[in-house]
Amino acid sequence: MPPWAPKIDPSRWVDNRVYTDPQVYARETERIFMQTWLFAGHESEVRNAGDYVTLSLLEQPLIIVRGTDNVVRAFYNTCRHRGSRVLLEDCGHAAALRCPYHFWSYDLSGNLIGVPGEEAYDGSGFVKEENPLVAVRCEVELGLVFVCFNEQAPPLRDYLGPKVIETLSTPLANAQFEVVKYKGYDLPINWKVFAENARDGYHVPFVHPFFRKASPPGPYFLFDNGHAVQTLGMDPSGIEPDLWVRLQEHTLPGVQTGDGYIVTLFPDATITLRSNVISIDSQRALGPKKVRMESRVLGLTGDTEEVRDVRALGHATWFLNPVELEDAPIFVGQQEGVAAHGVRYSVIARGTDATTGTRGDDNRLRQWWAAWRHYMGVELNSLEGEA
Ligand code: FES
Ligand SMILES: [Fe+2]
Repeated sequence: MPPWAPKIDPSRWVDNRVYTDPQVYARETERIFMQTWLFAGHESEVRNAGDYVTLSLLEQPLIIVRGTDNVVRAFYNTCRHRGSRVLLEDCGHAAALRCPYHFWSYDLSGNLIGVPGEEAYDGSGFVKEENPLVAVRCEVELGLVFVCFNEQAPPLRDYLGPKVIETLSTPLANAQFEVVKYKGYDLPINWKVFAENARDGYHVPFVHPFFRKASPPGPYFLFDNGHAVQTLGMDPSGIEPDLWVRLQEHTLPGVQTGDGYIVTLFPDATITLRSNVISIDSQRALGPKKVRMESRVLGLTGDTEEVRDVRALGHATWFLNPVELEDAPIFVGQQEGVAAHGVRYSVIARGTDATTGTRGDDNRLRQWWAAWRHYMGVELNSLEGEA
């Protein structure tokens, strides 16, 4: 045990360096982000054959595109000629993917189909068929698109596990959804600050007084794979009457008024259901002290503007306002605090270990940290615990 470690069980403290240290971040990139399934978007963002989005995950330029066979695929957004980005726009539609530099073009399945002046390569050994866009694993579950840089990782369904899929199936399996609102913003925090907060139930009465009154916690379930489900109710007595009326409008298929959950996926996504709205909030690490927060509100395909406004209100009430207005300053304060050289560890010792219950203590954070240690190959919540 490092000499600075507190005399409590090692699963019950965290080395504060893990929130700031570039070496920890480099190891997380290699052992967590490059190994696990990462949330990349919703399939409605590439609704038709030829629709594409581009994104950067871990500084890897990616294309996600729907093929003529309706399959959603991911490729490195890197031309096989001299490495230019093939697609420069954030999103668009194309019959073929053409590199802007020398106009090499690829079909929607990634095959290289056009090389201007191709005959000049005769005798060089260059073979067009051997130079498709390089694919990245991409799978879609319940409309959610994930990518994975690890060829050996289990299929997405196994990675998510049956309980998570069963939970998300209501409402995602019951209708066709689409992104009706998107927002992205950067925060000057380590990615784990948000991930931990999504598991921390006992900050709610202090930081989110409305949420605490209006949304009593139901049972939670923690899984070995690092994911978790927190069910939530609604208490009308804590909600202003006009708002309560609006929060009950246009409830999603299969959902009862008041139903809610927060599904936290290791490492990067939080999916929140509240009666009439489901949203996906993901965080993309941009470095040890920077995170890109992305928020997608889903509605039903064909929702009118008015219905979309109702869903947006639900999302603002239950997620955006609490997280962006109330949590974000807390996140930044924690990030600035853990930079202190003289304060070496934080404490996550509250409560007994349990994988289900209704009262959320630090057991929910400890379960998250167990997954972190598993992927990182360490025995402590610290790089000093390297196995
Ligand atoms: S780098 Fe793409 S065509 Fe030359
Ligand atoms: Fe919070």
